[in-house]
Amino acid sequence: MDPIAKNLDPAAKLDTDCAVVPVFARKQLSSAAKALDKATGGLIKTAIENGEIEGKQGQTLMLHAPAKSGSKRILLFGAGTASKLDAASGRAISGAVIKALHASRARDAAVFIEEVSSKKLATETLCQQLAKDAATSAYRYSETVSKPKDAPTLRKLQVNTGLPARAANAALKRGTNIGEGINTARELGNLPGNICTPTYLASQARKLGRKSKNLSISVLEEEQMRKLGMGSLLSVSAGSEQPAKLIVMNYKGAASSAKPYVVVGKGITFDSGGISLKPGAKMDEMKYDMCGAASVFGAMQAVVDMKLPLNVVAIVAASENLPSGSATKPGDVVTSMSGQTIEILNTDAEGRLVLCDALTYAERFKPAAVIDIATLTGACVVALGAHASGMYANQDKLAEQLTQAGETSHDRAWRMPLWDDYQKQINTPFADMANVGGPGGGSITAACFLARFTKKYNWAHLDIAGTAWTGAPKGATGRPVGLLLQYLMDRAGK
Ligand code: BES
Ligand code: MN
Ligand code: ZN
Repeated sequence: MDPIAKNLDPAAKLDTDCAVVPVFARKQLSSAAKALDKATGGLIKTAIENGEIEGKQGQTLMLHAPAKSGSKRILLFGAGTASKLDAASGRAISGAVIKALHASRARDAAVFIEEVSSKKLATETLCQQLAKDAATSAYRYSETVSKPKDAPTLRKLQVNTGLPARAANAALKRGTNIGEGINTARELGNLPGNICTPTYLASQARKLGRKSKNLSISVLEEEQMRKLGMGSLLSVSAGSEQPAKLIVMNYKGAASSAKPYVVVGKGITFDSGGISLKPGAKMDEMKYDMCGAASVFGAMQAVVDMKLPLNVVAIVAASENLPSGSATKPGDVVTSMSGQTIEILNTDAEGRLVLCDALTYAERFKPAAVIDIATLTGACVVALGAHASGMYANQDKLAEQLTQAGETSHDRAWRMPLWDDYQKQINTPFADMANVGGPGGGSITAACFLARFTKKYNWAHLDIAGTAWTGAPKGATGRPVGLLLQYLMDRAGK
């Protein structure tokens, strides 16, 4: 669905399933609501006098319009006090409107938001939010369900904004692109491990590459990784029949002299723990262990769709983590591409093992900044729960930009310490480092491990173990695609 900006007269024959108009706090009708009220012989005022809606943000009321009126239904939505509207109001309003439209089974709607703005809520922001919500709320997982249920009916959204059509349409388009990027990440996350293998991810990259001549794809096979010395990454795929893939997507939207932003995704398509086998309960959830990679795919798709004037490189380190006769054993020592040796004390701490080689590989792009995204540690879920991703950075400016992008997109990250004091937890007599750091600060010591491979550039790490999927209802959230895109749009000045 592509929402479009349109100048509409609410009282005219709109020929729509649903006209959507605001009611402000204390039962104040918007101009659009007034016009509709008049055209329907006082329908809206009657509902308000009956106390069915007051105008609080998040409230909605569906009315069935009389025959011969301009639309089949009228959806009233509460917009609160106009002067107090802010980003949170925009989210509440957009969420409530889109939810009510879906519930009504309307096929199309005309939304009047020209009066729903303030110093702290630009109409463009609300447009973007509406389009994003329209896209994400239409997502259904259906790939492996024989009779998909509850297909969304909403096909068309016209938005009366009071803005020049160009500005409104640009904001709507941006929202759609972001929402579709989020949906792509959710779909990849939700696919089962027997479909979404490293090879499948490589094929998805090639498919994305066919969308734009500015996006080139290369996939490193195990043989090439061996030649590059990626002994750490390959130690994770050693127990699996599925070959590991290092997937590189290179997007050129700016001059070739412009340094690229590099995003690196953990793509463990199933994490059994390996020889350090995980307990059986909820092990199925470890199909989501490629959600970092999924977010990189979703973000890259939207970067291409938005034609952002930046250079962006996405690297996906894809592997399964399984036990077998050829699997890596606790106590094994491997040599990473950086030359540093690693004692693998726990084969379940595999994310850092695939990421470290991908992060060394990232050096060759002479990056402006590198951000890795990974469902890295259960400890991060304990620390921050489901609301914030854990963020680590070796440069304050990058950390601030990511924090800001998280606030703007409401896909938030919270900075955690990378202090040297934690580094000694991963020292070992048998190698340059161990891959686990003992009981305390598990998310931090994982980040400290990665920090030993990222000294040559500005780097941030997002631990998304708590934010990438939810248990009820089960599914991938598409986070942190919103944060990544906001960060990149900010860099592009969009
Ligand atoms: N993929 C897991 C992290 C994870 C656990 C994400 C639970 C989401 C929910 C990761 O590979 C892992 O197993 N980490 C271990 C590290 C430990 C062995 C040091 C963990 O967090 O338990
Ligand atoms: Mn693991
Ligand atoms: Zn894992």
